[in-house]
Amino acid sequence: MRVVRIPAEVRAALTGVSRPLGLVPTMGALHAGHLALIRRARDESAAVAVSVFVNPLQFGPNEDFERYPRAFDDDMVQLRDAGVDLVYAPDVTTMYPPGFATAVDPGPVGERYEGALRPGHFRGVATVCTKLFATIAPDRTYFGAKDAQQVAVLRRVVTDLDLGIELIVLPTVRESDGLALSSRNAYLDAEQRAAAPALHRALDAIVTAVRNGERNAQRAVERGRAELQTPMREVYLDVVDPRTFVPEPEIHAPALAIGSAWLGTTRLIDNEPIEATS
Ligand code: PAF
Repeated sequence: MRVVRIPAEVRAALTGVSRPLGLVPTMGALHAGHLALIRRARDESAAVAVSVFVNPLQFGPNEDFERYPRAFDDDMVQLRDAGVDLVYAPDVTTMYPPGFATAVDPGPVGERYEGALRPGHFRGVATVCTKLFATIAPDRTYFGAKDAQQVAVLRRVVTDLDLGIELIVLPTVRESDGLALSSRNAYLDAEQRAAAPALHRALDAIVTAVRNGERNAQRAVERGRAELQTPMREVYLDVVDPRTFVPEPEIHAPALAIGSAWLGTTRLIDNEPIEATS
């Protein structure tokens, strides 16, 4: 496994590499969700690259950029064990040198829900991923379904900019009690951790209501809301079109139940697909 720090080293390392090349973009602090993406990339690609970069552009001024978990040495052990060929781990000034000014704006899909709560977040995600795609030139790139709006944004970017990269999305990996894996779960204390699965239960309740024939989003969401109790504080719970993140007052599958809630100073997000029934 080679670990490289600048774009020229990436290009040199990947010259003549076997194709297809799979890329798993990460911010490090790897967990089983990342490893599932890497395993899938390993299974279906001739070579696998992973980027490890905590991207300041996608954090707001009052967010957790400084305290975001960093575990570089441990990550490298896991990546080597997972059979990764190349790790790209630039520092911030390599990614954004003085004078850096270009941004990729994904438009309305990046302005709703997470985009409204975190202005500039998806612009930061779209910009860094476009740079990673340009530097590494993968054939396929892998993302977790947990960050569903990020997936919708990146689909838009890959399509609109004709990047010719296949975007592969894998189901959310969950703890046995339903909590979606996230590097930010490390912030939860014991009481918050015990309360955290309620968000997934709320989304499940929405999906069940729809499965039982409810088509009115407001009524389906009320079923979910009943699961969100103290200490959890709802931020949003809704049903949207998974491609645009436009809310669906009348639910037409395939749709996506999405939710976010605070537990102390940690905000969780999660989602559950609402599949079309035949
Ligand atoms: O999902 C993440 O970890 C990040 O948003 C990503 C895609 C690596 C971009 O920084």
